[in-house]
Amino acid sequence: MKFKETHPRKVRGESVHMTKEEKMEELTIKGSQLQVTISKDEPELNNSGQLHDLRGNELESVEAAYLVPDNNNFIDTPDVKKLDERIRLWLKTGHPVHLIGPTGCGKTSLAMHTAKELGRPVVWINGDESVTTTDLIGGYSQIEQESLRDKYIHNVFKSSDILKADWIDNPLAIACKYGYTLVYNEFSRTKPSANNVLLSVFEEKILELPTKFGEERYIQVHPDFKAILTSNSIEYAGVHKPQDALLDRLVSIYMDYYSFNTEVKIVQAHTDLPLHDVKKIVSVVTSLREKLPDAQKPGTRACIMIGKGLAASNGSGNADFEQICIDVMATKTNSRIDLMEKQKLVKEAILALK
Ligand SMILES: Nc1ncnc2c1ncn2[C@@H]1O[C@H](COP(=O)(O)OP(=O)(O)OP(=O)(O)O)[C@@H](O)[C@H]1O
Ligand SMILES: [Mg+2]
Repeated sequence: MKFKETHPRKVRGESVHMTKEEKMEELTIKGSQLQVTISKDEPELNNSGQLHDLRGNELESVEAAYLVPDNNNFIDTPDVKKLDERIRLWLKTGHPVHLIGPTGCGKTSLAMHTAKELGRPVVWINGDESVTTTDLIGGYSQIEQESLRDKYIHNVFKSSDILKADWIDNPLAIACKYGYTLVYNEFSRTKPSANNVLLSVFEEKILELPTKFGEERYIQVHPDFKAILTSNSIEYAGVHKPQDALLDRLVSIYMDYYSFNTEVKIVQAHTDLPLHDVKKIVSVVTSLREKLPDAQKPGTRACIMIGKGLAASNGSGNADFEQICIDVMATKTNSRIDLMEKQKLVKEAILALK
């Protein structure tokens, strides 16, 4: 049990009834303690212009927990820039932006890139079936129990237990409070009821914390708060249909696969292959994209995978290239006939290169 002094009165300048060990401990703490006034609610800018408050360590650890992954290989060609500018335009108007597009076309990478470029800290959430409102806003993580013992008068002891609920903010609450940029990836995979909390954030600029009471229940959304959401156009039939009210509050930008030149540059950035090999890869993938149904179309990710396979393979003949392409394309194949069909398409696409 840990005892804590509760009365300020001292006897001859010293607390009474302390054991030798307690006195030693108190002296050590006094000697090393740095006195700071902590203002919990007023974040300020540090020298480098970054958001910082006197709870620096706390914020740092929160940010570290939600930091977005680095995308050092990001390629910014004119068609990527155009999309980036459209996203920024709508964010500037205060609207959240929804990037929608087929699998592997570059939605998440672009959302992260634009979010980072805004210069504010970025927090992110990945939507899925099990995400709840608590995962978005936070909640009472634990109850802290503290035992107090009043040692002020000799032989008189008073003890009491204090129970304090410990609230932990999750990414949405952090972003709303401090004006961070939120990337909510695949938001449509989350149950619409869990996303309801976003409605007032986007419209009235108020975040309601349903499990809190009184004044603490409402947070005024920071003016720098921005949100970029992504969802997969192919998945719409299978996942929760996001409620109309939420979609109505979002500006949606439809992203298709990037142009041939951009995809070539992206694959080059992810592999060290010579240009003619990269062009071959993108041509084959583009050709299959034109022939396969939507749910099976290969994205930019497939181009990168083929590139990595080719770079790692010792062989450089067409047979190796064909096998690598087939292995990558076979990912959404559910029967032998399906596979044979894809093999045929890959062969034809490679033949057409000559
Ligand atoms: N502009 C870019 N620069 C560099 N790499 C990129 C770029 N855009 C996409 N990529 C790469 O292409 C691949 C697919 O991109 P990303 O994961 O962003 O697509 P997505 O649309 O979010 O896919 P999914 O629908 O599966 O979530 C990733 O490996 C990513 O690194
Ligand atoms: Mg994605």
